[in-house]
Amino acid sequence: MDATAYCLDVAAIRRDFPILEQRVHGRKTLVYLDNAASAQRPRQVIETIDQLYRRHYANVHRGIHWLSEQSTELYETAREAVRQFLNAPSSDEIIFTSGTTAAINLVARSWCEAFLKPGDEILLTLMEHHSNIVPWQQAAQRHQAKIRFLPIDNQGMLDPSCWDQYFSPRTRLVSFTAVSNVLGTRNPVGQLVEAARRVGAVVLIDAAQVAPHEPIDVQAWGADFVALSGHKMLGPTGVGVLWGRREWLEKMPPFLGGGSMIRKVTLEGFEPASLPYKFEAGTPPIAEVVGLKAAVEYLWQIGLAHITEHEHRLTELAHEVLSDVGDIIIYGPSVQHKAGIVSFNLDGVHAQDVSEVLDQEGIAIRAGHHCAMPLHERLGVPATARASFYLYNTYDDVYRLGEALRTAKKLLRPGRTRSSNA
Ligand code: ALA
Repeated sequence: MDATAYCLDVAAIRRDFPILEQRVHGRKTLVYLDNAASAQRPRQVIETIDQLYRRHYANVHRGIHWLSEQSTELYETAREAVRQFLNAPSSDEIIFTSGTTAAINLVARSWCEAFLKPGDEILLTLMEHHSNIVPWQQAAQRHQAKIRFLPIDNQGMLDPSCWDQYFSPRTRLVSFTAVSNVLGTRNPVGQLVEAARRVGAVVLIDAAQVAPHEPIDVQAWGADFVALSGHKMLGPTGVGVLWGRREWLEKMPPFLGGGSMIRKVTLEGFEPASLPYKFEAGTPPIAEVVGLKAAVEYLWQIGLAHITEHEHRLTELAHEVLSDVGDIIIYGPSVQHKAGIVSFNLDGVHAQDVSEVLDQEGIAIRAGHHCAMPLHERLGVPATARASFYLYNTYDDVYRLGEALRTAKKLLRPGRTRSSNA
């Protein structure tokens, strides 16, 4: 969007998030910078779930009774809202799962069972979350396939100039994250999809770190599958989405067997239900799906392009503030190439210790390998500290992070001289 048209009333937004009013350890007001792990929920989402359980709840698609009809209507309206959110061609292509991990596992089980052959290659990137590595490792083991990883450069970006060595006619499936959960790197989705298409490969995009923050158009992306989680986009835990192209979903075998996913069962076998139910075995996460619709509506009302711009400004400020603290190593590319995620280390200090000091100052960040151990091995560190922003964060939150890091530096690096903060 045109940055001058940006407008976000953060003070009003914050009033929608009761959790942010709390004092950490009864002292400092909470600065919540762990949004890449999980976001907070506005009262609109909390109240929607509360109302569902108080007034409308029953199992879906089963009973022909008043409550079940209401519940089913709410559940299916949510599917349509998610379709619009992703600009998917049909709500039949929207599969509710328990999260991004389950969505990727669904494809890794079902698609690979039908289409992955010995000697085929699966191409990932070095910056993937474990949930976009391990399911493919399991599939590769089952089907005697091989996994390859696109490397990253020292700025934490993919380098298309070396891709010819990795994309080949053996590449059967390419799966990558749109935004790195550690480095914040925005990957060149269009270029990756095009490279995959040139060799006839199928594409899955892990959109967990992009769906909460930017408008998504799965048709413009042109991939075959897109996975995302509700809890990172103001929705409940335990719900996520797999969007898949109808052509593939129709050819793929069901992943889980059970109630709802069948048209007919006999003692000899079963006929699967049509899409999307074929992939939604058992009682689905009804309240969570309905809560996800409330989250989508909240994001629409604020405007995703405004959220993107707000987070960009916070990230820019965070880079400046962290550089001013000194002795901070920031990982990943420059701000123009990254989303609202800033991973760093205080030179010579374990990220966990930094996080503990920050917690005493009321600041919630994540420290560790962020479920991306191969990436940390490439970075040459076992752990990083990570601040990740969302629509309710303020410039003051970033200044508070800077002050707390100065305190951490005094406590954890006493008497040490200033060194590089590259
Ligand atoms: N994927 C989440 C994170 O990056 C849990 O923290």
